[in-house]
Amino acid sequence: MKKVSFYFFSGTGNSKAVVNWFSEEAKNHNIETNSIDISKLEKRKGEKPLPKDIIGFCSPTHGFNFPPIMMHFIFRFPRSTGNKAFIMNTRAGMKIGKLFVPGLSGIALWLAALVLILKGYKIIGLRSIDLPSNWISLHPGMKENVVQSIFERRKKDVHQFAKTIISGKKSYKAFRDIIQDLLITPISLGYYMVGRFVFAKSFIASHKCTHCNLCIKQCPVNAIKLVDNRCFWTHKCESCMHCMNICPTRAIETAHGFVIGVAFIFYTIILTWLYSIIGLNEIFETFLSPAMHYLTEVIFHAILFIFSLLSFYYVMHFLMHFKVFERFFVLTSLTTYKFWRRYLPHKAK
Ligand SMILES: Cc1cc2nc3c(=O)[nH]c(=O)nc-3n(C[C@H](O)[C@H](O)[C@H](O)COP(=O)(O)O)c2cc1C
Repeated sequence: MKKVSFYFFSGTGNSKAVVNWFSEEAKNHNIETNSIDISKLEKRKGEKPLPKDIIGFCSPTHGFNFPPIMMHFIFRFPRSTGNKAFIMNTRAGMKIGKLFVPGLSGIALWLAALVLILKGYKIIGLRSIDLPSNWISLHPGMKENVVQSIFERRKKDVHQFAKTIISGKKSYKAFRDIIQDLLITPISLGYYMVGRFVFAKSFIASHKCTHCNLCIKQCPVNAIKLVDNRCFWTHKCESCMHCMNICPTRAIETAHGFVIGVAFIFYTIILTWLYSIIGLNEIFETFLSPAMHYLTEVIFHAILFIFSLLSFYYVMHFLMHFKVFERFFVLTSLTTYKFWRRYLPHKAK
């Protein structure tokens, strides 16, 4: 083995830490490593690897899959010249008491492996690493000591995995989870289509925003722009949580109240109106079998909900100019309260 070239994406630093730990171990064995942050590549397409190089991929898991930026990168990655490759995903690990609880990978590793195999790569390692969950739109960030203890434990796992790969052996520990991973495939696919649009349309910047533009400058996918001098999250947002965690004034919030409010309006007013006025049910029943009726309804509702959220997001963005509405949207965001910690792994490492 001559060199390990790592391609990684990392929202809040977990996957980057994994790449660094792997590289430390490689260095101990005098093996050169090259770590490339794919969000910083100008053209998101890797270089054609030299035949003896080993290629590593590492990314967080988002919605039981790799985030779109990583999947698109792998889809566009050059064909192999006889290379070996390994794939690592970091997942939402938790610690309950003394128990370390793993996250769920879904199709993240399997889809990536399939694409790479079709491109001629030989997969020599598949490994999930359970680092602290950074999904602070859903739950408060973990306490520093918990983050620290998860990090210490997983660092050893990564060094062990690196030793195995560097010594020329194979490691497929991820196979232990394959049944649960495949069972949640429908949710993985659903999230890929729907989840990212919903989460991207839940971020707001409160009055605490000092216009330092750090979030705009550092967004890995350039998803935040200024609209009417206020931060606006476009659909490109991967919900990687980078912006929320680096904001020096804690001005970025997940507008829970807004999302719940739109869902309420959508199901009680918009859908009811569509079904009763347009007679949507009769149209569906006339043209579709019961199974197709159900499937069409699920897809139709999802698309319509995203469309409503998108429209209302513009309305909220406008209303945020008025103090009374700004206060309302911020105070109905759970992330605004002190107990809802941010995720700051760099403090623990
Ligand atoms: C939008 C989003 C979706 C997530 N989905 C999953 C998931 O499906 N399964 C899982 O185990 N962890 C999930 N997580 C947790 C992250 O994968 C995990 O914390 C990861 O280590 C973060 O890596 P990073 O710091 O490199 O971005 C999710 C996190 C976010 C922000």
